[in-house]
Amino acid sequence: MTLTIGVDVGGTKVAGGVVDEHGTVLASNRRDTPAEDPAGTRDTIVEVAAELAREYPQATAIGIGAAAWIDAPGATVLFAPNLAWRDEPLRDYVTKAVGLPTVLENDANVAAWAEFRYGVARHADSMVMITVGTGIGGGIVINGKLWRGANGIAAELGHIQSVPDGHPCGCGRLGCLEQYASGNALVRFARAGARQEPERAAQLLELAGGDPLAISGRQITEAARAGDGVARDAFAQIGYWLGVAMADLAQSFDPEILVVGGGVVDAGDLLMGPTRTTYRDQLKQRGRFPVADLAAAETGNTAGVVGAADLARRA
Ligand code: BGC
Ligand code: NA
Ligand code: ZN
Repeated sequence: MTLTIGVDVGGTKVAGGVVDEHGTVLASNRRDTPAEDPAGTRDTIVEVAAELAREYPQATAIGIGAAAWIDAPGATVLFAPNLAWRDEPLRDYVTKAVGLPTVLENDANVAAWAEFRYGVARHADSMVMITVGTGIGGGIVINGKLWRGANGIAAELGHIQSVPDGHPCGCGRLGCLEQYASGNALVRFARAGARQEPERAAQLLELAGGDPLAISGRQITEAARAGDGVARDAFAQIGYWLGVAMADLAQSFDPEILVVGGGVVDAGDLLMGPTRTTYRDQLKQRGRFPVADLAAAETGNTAGVVGAADLARRA
């Protein structure tokens, strides 16, 4: 049995795990991400991986999935829209510091790989996934292979444009999907709705102590489940933009399956309902030909760790 270590690096946490070839996580650990401090983030990754390597000396490799744009050789973090990272030669640093061969990959690519190997896309040959979290990520698998693009930055699906001249994005562009369909967008829509129509946001505002600016993602899910109008609208809005993007992806890639992953998927039909409705509605010629199934991811919050560990095993 070969064991590898997966490390999932997001804007708020660095999560690690020791994973076997069935995708089972045998041990895990986590630390907060010092998001404003690239050197601190790098050292946190080393700490997380080294701790697991000490506990499981038989582990043979490390895979890192990071919320960042990675270069073609998989060596360097080039840029991160939501972290302070720029031009960081992370792979070789971790290899040296921990003493294990290391693979560096984008976080959403890694999550898509986990779904492809072990999740809802495990029987498919091609899939495209969008992850809905703080930001929006993407992953593309074609003919059983992760598509990294010529320069390593394929599947940056959060930064395709939804709204011309729209909301400014961390990548420098205006109107990116990430500004309309992410967890951050959900919060922005809900806060705006609660200010404009406080009576329709009664449950949501009660959870937030009456202050629209205190509204959080978790509260939006809770209030929407209880029927709060503004909270449900916020999900309908991000679901709409997600559905439009999914229709574009069906037309671009014609994959077997389209997958929605990331933390916000925990909201279930609150998100998937409007996403599905829009997806179908946008594909005007559906019925003349089969179109990709649209499904929620199944591997949950271990996707990053499991996918990264599996890529490390194969490298
Ligand atoms: C970044 C991606 C990342 C995604 C999810 C986006 O803003 O551009 O690289 O995969 O967020 O973390
Ligand atoms: Na990606
Ligand atoms: Zn962007």
